[in-house]
Amino acid sequence: MSNYLQTVADVYAEAADKPDATLCCVASPVWHLPDLRIPQVMQEMNYGCGSTVDPRDLRGDDTILYVGVGGGLEALQFAYFTRRPGSVIAVDPVAEMREKARANFEEAARLNPWFRPDFIRLHDGNALDLPVSSASASVAAQNCLFNVFTSDDLERALSEVIRVLRPGGRFATSDPITPIPLPASLVGDARLRARCISGCQTFEDYLAAMTHAGFGKVEVRARFPYRYLHPNEYPELLAPVMLESVEVTAYKVPDGVDGPAIFTGRTATYFGTLETFDDGHGNLLRRGMPTPISDAAAQRFGKLKDVVLTPSTWHSKGGGCC
Ligand SMILES: C[S@@+](CC[C@H](N)C(=O)[O-])C[C@H]1O[C@@H](n2cnc3c(N)ncnc32)[C@H](O)[C@@H]1O
Repeated sequence: MSNYLQTVADVYAEAADKPDATLCCVASPVWHLPDLRIPQVMQEMNYGCGSTVDPRDLRGDDTILYVGVGGGLEALQFAYFTRRPGSVIAVDPVAEMREKARANFEEAARLNPWFRPDFIRLHDGNALDLPVSSASASVAAQNCLFNVFTSDDLERALSEVIRVLRPGGRFATSDPITPIPLPASLVGDARLRARCISGCQTFEDYLAAMTHAGFGKVEVRARFPYRYLHPNEYPELLAPVMLESVEVTAYKVPDGVDGPAIFTGRTATYFGTLETFDDGHGNLLRRGMPTPISDAAAQRFGKLKDVVLTPSTWHSKGGGCC
């Protein structure tokens, strides 16, 4: 195991023994769903930086791979939708974290009559070499883990996710992003990296890593402030840096006509004389009705005189084409 991965394991072994309110988290509330009671300890161990659970996407017959279980909050939320033995497979290489998650699932079963701990299968496993067979999961998820990896390891972790997903499967992911590349001394600080501060990529590099791995469609679901790094605390910085958190759903599907289709919440509206306008690339615009389009399609539509475009909202909800 490389040095920085050992530091990551050490940080999370400590965070399993004693909940750490300064680790990763954002202040936004977690999903509360009917008849779902989340144990207090799971909320205290919310080491995510967004949410990867989106009720709109989930189906009872999904098989979900969760990478980096933490206190088990999101694995429990996923199990809420699937409710079958082994329907959520959670992997984590840190024994202390698996042990804590196991105890938290027992507590969740006491609070939730519908939940059984065997809905979630916990495995000793590493994101860089997943102990899961190829094309076996319909959904994969990770929250605030992949940002700790170096670019090479991120590439490897993403190729593992692609491998285990079935064709058409979805990858729900949430990580910090940085507006500018951070100074090498911060990037090289293994403990800051492990604490989800200094390993993160720029938004463009983060999405490029996903499309490079083979995700043909990528939706940016949310993007919001995560951490403010100030030179008072980090003298290596020349100016303050606001890190953001991004929530993305990526699909294991072929590329669109323009290459990988990235949706950031842009729309196109046709206002010409026809009832509908077909761009010949799978986008059918109804007159006066905003239609979700990919950023690449927006480039093409930008050249047409009877189409108006709206900017990225960072809240793509799916739909649209190519
Ligand atoms: C930032 S925490 C996130 C926990 C959880 N996803 C959440 O949202 O609360 C990172 C988790 O990944 C685990 N982890 C660390 N290194 C890992 C690796 N190489 N592969 C998989 N999981 C890892 C840690 O033990 C920890 O549980």
